[in-house]
Amino acid sequence: MEVPDSVAAALSDRDVAGTTCLEAGAGVGNATAGLLDAGAEQVYAVTDRADHAEGVRERFAGDDRVELIEADLREIPLPDDSVEVVTAHALFNVLPADATAPIAAELTRVAAPGATLVVDDYDPMPPNSAVRQLFGVENAAAELANARPALAFYPADALRRLFGGHGWAHDRTQSILEPVPWTESHLTAHVAEVRGHAGSLPDALGKPLVTEAERLAKTTGSSDEGRMYSVAMELAV
Ligand SMILES: C[S@@+](CC[C@H](N)C(=O)[O-])C[C@H]1O[C@@H](n2cnc3c(N)ncnc32)[C@H](O)[C@@H]1O
Repeated sequence: MEVPDSVAAALSDRDVAGTTCLEAGAGVGNATAGLLDAGAEQVYAVTDRADHAEGVRERFAGDDRVELIEADLREIPLPDDSVEVVTAHALFNVLPADATAPIAAELTRVAAPGATLVVDDYDPMPPNSAVRQLFGVENAAAELANARPALAFYPADALRRLFGGHGWAHDRTQSILEPVPWTESHLTAHVAEVRGHAGSLPDALGKPLVTEAERLAKTTGSSDEGRMYSVAMELAV
């Protein structure tokens, strides 16, 4: 099973063997793959997107250790204290600020006393970074279209303190990917997101945003910059 190096690095010093796990924000299921590879007995993979749910179902078809749950992480259909390891790999960068507190509370509710939590995400990038500027254009388009940003970059310390408020004790913070390879296809995918949001805006607003996103992606090409960090925490017994 293919496990990205960043996921493997984040889990390499955690005790996962024989545990019941939750991947919060499953995407394509990379953390689920990493948890299985590390010996998890069961993994609940949670996403609120039907296309991601379908992809994860296909990827792990026939593996009865994986249960895909299509739900909002603010209301996880699992009992209290039911999981021993929780991962949020590249989840928080797609969460607007008002979703972070309810999701932290809900992840804490389903975690058993003594549980492990691994939160992996991207450092904010400097304002002069072309990649950050492209994400800025995407956020502008998303705000205008949906009244919420598409992307948010929380420093490791902010997420550590958010969960600290729910009783999670910090164990370690480490780099798991540095620099981050923002490939041409990554940047092209973000331009496509801008186009999608711009489609619901008047041309006078949407077109300049698309033009600027295309310009930034073209002049950047690809870029190695920024860092992905991993914060590991444990819930008080
Ligand atoms: C960037 S992907 C995460 C990548 C994935 N963890 C991996 O390692 O491959 C973010 C995922 O979080 C999900 N997500 C975002 N907000 C959510 C919410 N409120 N409830 C459930 N899933 C959510 C998205 O649908 C998406 O599947």
